[in-house]
Amino acid sequence: MSTGADTPLLSVRDLRIRFATLDQGATVKAVDGVSFDVRAGETFGVIGESGSGKTTLGRALVSLLAPTEGSILHDGVDLSALSGKALRDRRRHYQIVFQDPNAALNPRQRILDSVSEPLEIAGGLGRDEIRRRALDALSRVGIPAEFAARYPHMLSGGQKQRINIARVLTLRPKLIVCDEVVAALDVSIRGDVLNLFADLQRELGLTYVFITHDLSVVSHVSDRIAVTYLGRFMELGPTEDVCDRPLHPYTEALMSAEPVPLPSQLRTRKRIVLEGEIPSPIDPPSGCRFRTRCRSAQDECARREPQWRELRPDHWVACHFATPDGPPPPNP
Ligand SMILES: Nc1ncnc2c1ncn2[C@@H]1O[C@H](COP(=O)(O)OP(=O)(O)O)[C@@H](O)[C@H]1O
Ligand code: SF4
Ligand SMILES: [Mg+2]
Repeated sequence: MSTGADTPLLSVRDLRIRFATLDQGATVKAVDGVSFDVRAGETFGVIGESGSGKTTLGRALVSLLAPTEGSILHDGVDLSALSGKALRDRRRHYQIVFQDPNAALNPRQRILDSVSEPLEIAGGLGRDEIRRRALDALSRVGIPAEFAARYPHMLSGGQKQRINIARVLTLRPKLIVCDEVVAALDVSIRGDVLNLFADLQRELGLTYVFITHDLSVVSHVSDRIAVTYLGRFMELGPTEDVCDRPLHPYTEALMSAEPVPLPSQLRTRKRIVLEGEIPSPIDPPSGCRFRTRCRSAQDECARREPQWRELRPDHWVACHFATPDGPPPPNP
């Protein structure tokens, strides 16, 4: 049933997640048909504008939300077929850290108690062992032992985010979804926290799904990048290839707007301005959903949804007119 050496840690197939709205009968198509695998040991980056469904996807990956359609296999196993202890034992290997450093911390709880809490809920361990594991996790994330007795308001945002990481580490996860984990932090300490994630990955063999709207973050930490737009992937491939030689017009525009130095040719590439707002996920455009903002759009693009094609090794794109050389040229 599971876990050959090559079994992906996550296997997502045609995942769709819809939310009902107050408007009669309308539904938000937050995730609208994505398929991908996350391989053990990699960092899988997910980039996209606000509202493109990244958080919804991340919550589904750790079973905080159920798929409306499609499937997610965790290490080859469909968790929806499990219950009780079997479900808890598998679920704990998949954890999530959110953007807001305060979200998971109780202001009236000492740090050591906050970090111990997930293990206490999980059950099966004695008090001393829980305490030992919590202190070990704090030391791994670079929080000195004397902080254990403090309260959250006595810590900086970066320290609180380290404590949130310690909380999930106590459960010895295989995979952590990192949802905009440095977005709320001061720019000056983002690098330190990103380095901590990298160190933990090396030491503990962790796998990450790294969700962000910030290209400079995702391009630094990810092995592969998925570019999302209105609940679908536009492009997926090795980070360097996607950043350096994008295939999709949307990715090309995102890369061109990036102020920090990116690999080679893109530094000299002219900035492409994305016209207009991102359309509503209640009623995404027909055919290619990027077409209302695409400078290469043709009539065909309104009629047919692009197929998901592998144009370079391990590098996939959803655009009718992309070729292995890159995106289609802009319309005259
Ligand atoms: N619980 C919910 N109920 C209704 N709509 C939601 C809910 N969660 C998210 N949405 C909607 O789904 C879309 C995607 O949201 P989200 O996944 O948070 O995107 P992102 O993280 O990329 O900004 C948005 O239009 C958002 O308003
Ligand atoms: S399919 Fe058409 S609208 Fe969509 S990205 Fe390609 S050229 Fe642009
Ligand atoms: Mg989000």
